[in-house]
Amino acid sequence: MNTASAPTTDETSLSARETVKALGAYVRPHRWAVGLGLLCALVGAAGGLLQPLATKTLVDRLATGETVAGILLALTALVVLGTAVEAFGAYVLERTAESVVLAARRTLVGRLLRLRIAEWERIPPGDLMSRVTSDTTLLRAVSTQAVVSAATGAVAFVAAIVMMAFLDVVLLAVTLGVVVLVGGAVALVMPRIARATERSQEAVGEISVALERAFGAFRTVKASGAEERETARVEAAARRAWRHGVKSAKWEAVAGSADELAVQLAFLAVLAVGGARVASGEIPVSTLIAFLLYLFYLIEPVSRLVDAVSSYQEGAAAISRIAQVERLAAEPPARQVGALPRQCAAGTGPASVRFEDVSFRYRAGLPYIHQHVTFEVPGAGMTAFVGPSGAGKSTVFALIERFYEATGGRVLVDAKDVQDWSLPQLRSAIGYVEQDAPVLAGTLRENLVFAAPGATDDDIRDVLARTRLDTLVERLPHGLDTPVGHRGSKLSGGERQRIAIARALLRRPRLLLLDEATSQLDAVGELALRDVVTEVARETTVLVVAHRLSTVTGADRIVVMDAGRVRAVGTHEELVAQDLLYAQLAATQLLAPAR
Ligand SMILES: Nc1ncnc2c1ncn2[C@@H]1O[C@H](COP(=O)(O)OP(=O)(O)O)[C@@H](O)[C@H]1O
Ligand SMILES: [Mg+2]
Repeated sequence: MNTASAPTTDETSLSARETVKALGAYVRPHRWAVGLGLLCALVGAAGGLLQPLATKTLVDRLATGETVAGILLALTALVVLGTAVEAFGAYVLERTAESVVLAARRTLVGRLLRLRIAEWERIPPGDLMSRVTSDTTLLRAVSTQAVVSAATGAVAFVAAIVMMAFLDVVLLAVTLGVVVLVGGAVALVMPRIARATERSQEAVGEISVALERAFGAFRTVKASGAEERETARVEAAARRAWRHGVKSAKWEAVAGSADELAVQLAFLAVLAVGGARVASGEIPVSTLIAFLLYLFYLIEPVSRLVDAVSSYQEGAAAISRIAQVERLAAEPPARQVGALPRQCAAGTGPASVRFEDVSFRYRAGLPYIHQHVTFEVPGAGMTAFVGPSGAGKSTVFALIERFYEATGGRVLVDAKDVQDWSLPQLRSAIGYVEQDAPVLAGTLRENLVFAAPGATDDDIRDVLARTRLDTLVERLPHGLDTPVGHRGSKLSGGERQRIAIARALLRRPRLLLLDEATSQLDAVGELALRDVVTEVARETTVLVVAHRLSTVTGADRIVVMDAGRVRAVGTHEELVAQDLLYAQLAATQLLAPAR
């Protein structure tokens, strides 16, 4: 995969309207807090707004020789109060912003863990992770600070303009002329900030993707001497993030200094025009002073407006990337979270499985992996799937678990189409050991009860003995509470497989799916587990994908698969006699005479 251009999710950005709508959805639950923050900011701004007027009165009084102590006191009180209120408002807003980020993260995480497997396969997990961790932080500014800045900025701006109009209309016209000129230039720059931010966030996602790739095969990276190359990959992504970040910073700096420029230019213009008007006696000096003070007062609302728009541009990039995740297909949520019932409510006893003329491909355009697959497993007992690698055996299990939907035909569990099952119910009836026996970071105990959170210590002890894990537990420094490392990296392959089997057994499933579950065990261990599975098969439907024929010669039925088709079904003896492929497999693996 080329990290330089990883088109991952549905790349279409949101339209301007959709972005505003999405932003509204984030802010709506916090509208009261945002309102309070806005109120505080307005009170603070009003305090500032009164200062020039007070100054004008002060200057007028100085001219007439009146006392000014009262006005000075009032001014001081105004400043202190205004600052306190503003600080409180800022705290309320920051708090709200954190809540918005939390809410976005919660929805994203809830969504990500329910993604359909086909969607999850399309997008590198690192990219998805960066949307949860990095993009959500960009919401912080836009969802509250920008909203309030825009509102207070606009109000203060209008108020200052009204005051200025009241002082002198000619000077106001001069001011507005300059502001509009500079504002137009800023408007041109704004969309560039959004674009640069989106690119930069994409690159941050690529950093995660590249890191996850290397960490996912850490030993292979080292054994292949690929540290430098993988480092370069991560660095390339980091440099891309830097480049776009700098670009965004550049445009933000342009926009951010434009407001000051506007006011300074206006100041010079007003000084020239106002000076002439004072000289010709059209306005008193105090009016010019007050006007100039309002002009400097204007710096803040204008820079707030500019800040609001540029952080909106940044936020829009993040909102767009988050919305892309929300468009991915997810499985319906489980109705009840937490412990699943030990016995599935939809039935008890061994489950039956039937494939009716199933065809399947992983995606439109890919070749068919299953073609007219038909077989029936009526109830308890062991059914084995054998056949060359790539025949479609693991895919059979994936369809039973409904990780994917069959393209044609029907998959039935308990004579009911899996499409008609509620997903949690269907899966709670099944114990599944994946082909590569994943073990999760955490303690051994966490791994064992992962599929059966309600398991008691007795249950655990029992299953440990059956899977011969008891000696391992005795050896571990903290017994069951020993951490197993990232992906169980502190365990041997065989130990991981035993844990995966124990985990599935603890679930007490009605249907047990074992996909080459003992491939990494030694012969003695494999034989012992075969006995366990045979015992379980007396009261449970057990489906195994066999990696060695020797483990399944005693199975109640064997399904021989080849290139996505079922070649034959029968017992070992029947198949040796009737099926050429099976007879060959048996001949090479069991040293039995081939036909
Ligand atoms: N997630 C997937 N996406 C696309 N193709 C897949 C996927 N998983 C497996 N395949 C393809 O489907 C075929 C059957 O795979 P699988 O059922 O795992 O075979 P088996 O378990 O019999 O070795 C293989 O050719 C494999 O390349
Ligand atoms: Mg397989």
